[in-house]
Amino acid sequence: MELKISLLVLCCILPAISSQLRVGFYSQTCPQAEAIVRSVVQNRFKTDRSITAALLRLHFHDCFVRGCDASVLIDSTPTSSSEKEAGPNFSVRGYDLIDEIKKQVEAACPSTVSCSDVVALATRDSVALAGGPTYSIPTGRRDGLISDAAEVDLPGPSLNIEDALPFFTPKGMNLNDMVALLGAHTIGITHCSFIGDRLNNFEGTGQPDSSMDPALVSRLARVCQAAGGSTDPPIFLDQNTSFVLDNEFYSQVIKKRGILQIDANLGAHRPSAPIVAKFASNGDLFKQNFVNAMLKMANVEVLVGNAGEIRKNCRVFNPKSTTSKSGPFKTPPGKSPSKPPKKSPPVKAPVTPPKKSPPRKAPSTPPKKPPPVKIPVTPPKKSPPRKAPVTPPKKSPPRKAPSTPPKKSSGKKPIPPRKKKSGSKKRRQSKKAGQPNN
Ligand code: HEM
Repeated sequence: MELKISLLVLCCILPAISSQLRVGFYSQTCPQAEAIVRSVVQNRFKTDRSITAALLRLHFHDCFVRGCDASVLIDSTPTSSSEKEAGPNFSVRGYDLIDEIKKQVEAACPSTVSCSDVVALATRDSVALAGGPTYSIPTGRRDGLISDAAEVDLPGPSLNIEDALPFFTPKGMNLNDMVALLGAHTIGITHCSFIGDRLNNFEGTGQPDSSMDPALVSRLARVCQAAGGSTDPPIFLDQNTSFVLDNEFYSQVIKKRGILQIDANLGAHRPSAPIVAKFASNGDLFKQNFVNAMLKMANVEVLVGNAGEIRKNCRVFNPKSTTSKSGPFKTPPGKSPSKPPKKSPPVKAPVTPPKKSPPRKAPSTPPKKPPPVKIPVTPPKKSPPRKAPVTPPKKSPPRKAPSTPPKKSSGKKPIPPRKKKSGSKKRRQSKKAGQPNN
């Protein structure tokens, strides 16, 4: 089946969606690039299976703001707030892995492989490691010269499908693509503060969301309440096969066990429900559609040719290439950039309104040691046998600020709200992997 997917991708999908990127772009200039990426991702995956989820979300948040140009990787400076500072990006993780890959790629082929390609390749490799499809991905992206927190406009978890779809259609994706991409929620975590309203005061009713399995509501409510407000516990998005990139997410949705409101809505919304049903019943079909949609996403508004730059450090624009948010593209005289700077899109329904966080004092250098990875607190009742350790970090990764203001609770048993830790690097205290919570 994997071969079939690869053939389908090579023959039919790639040429249709990308005329400027190409598979094997670095075969002459840096033949070892893809092997380096694969090897670093493989090593990380051995100790941290959650890295696939981290990369998928990072890639999504990069591509949906200014296209896949690695703008999400840029650190803020004392004079500008980068995308990382925007509410929807507060819990995005995986930056340290990109730094690690980039360091090795730069050592092998200086100033050749873009950070945006590193993200796309690393995500692709991590998907395969998590049991997802294997596929070829075109490369040749270049890195953007602008990263502005105010431009971050990403769909929030409480949107319904009708309101979420307009985030996808301008990027060349249809409902089927969106449903397939949301299949990424078959791995990874959310936090109690994103679902508190579903657990105890859905839409101001004072009751849990009746569209969620009551047994799951009780279990999650216990986990979230146990934290007592001091932490914001992570919750697996797929309560069954939490680390496997499979079609189980859709079965969970059908069983009313979707965790985020948008996930639950996938199964309830008339146009998306049949797509959910077909993906739930046919894992291969899901994988094909997932690859197709991932390739579309990885192709959104890419910079090619002489546009942008090849960053040396993914967290910092190259010296001289830009000095301001609206700095010029590095395009030789006589040539026009492949993609002009965009205007900020109108804010529709972000996870939180972009906030200008205080600028960081010490920007830009990648940490020498990657920060430890956060661990999900709530193991699903039926998680698959774990071959590798579930990444037991000693400390949780830095948490700067809340992603979403919690909705009003009924007052009976409030789920602890997220606390804003603006500008601080306070770490979330997570429970250890495998710790039972019920
Ligand atoms: C309407 C679209 C989407 C919405 C509203 C949405 C919302 C969210 C939210 C609220 C979280 C939890 C964040 C947290 O608790 O810190 C999350 C996690 C995640 N999302 Fe989405 N998402 C969407 C689309 C996507 C897409 C297109 C992908 C990738 C293809 C994706 C991949 C993930 C992954 C893998 C996680 C887990 C991250 C982790 O474990 O760190 N999501 N999403």
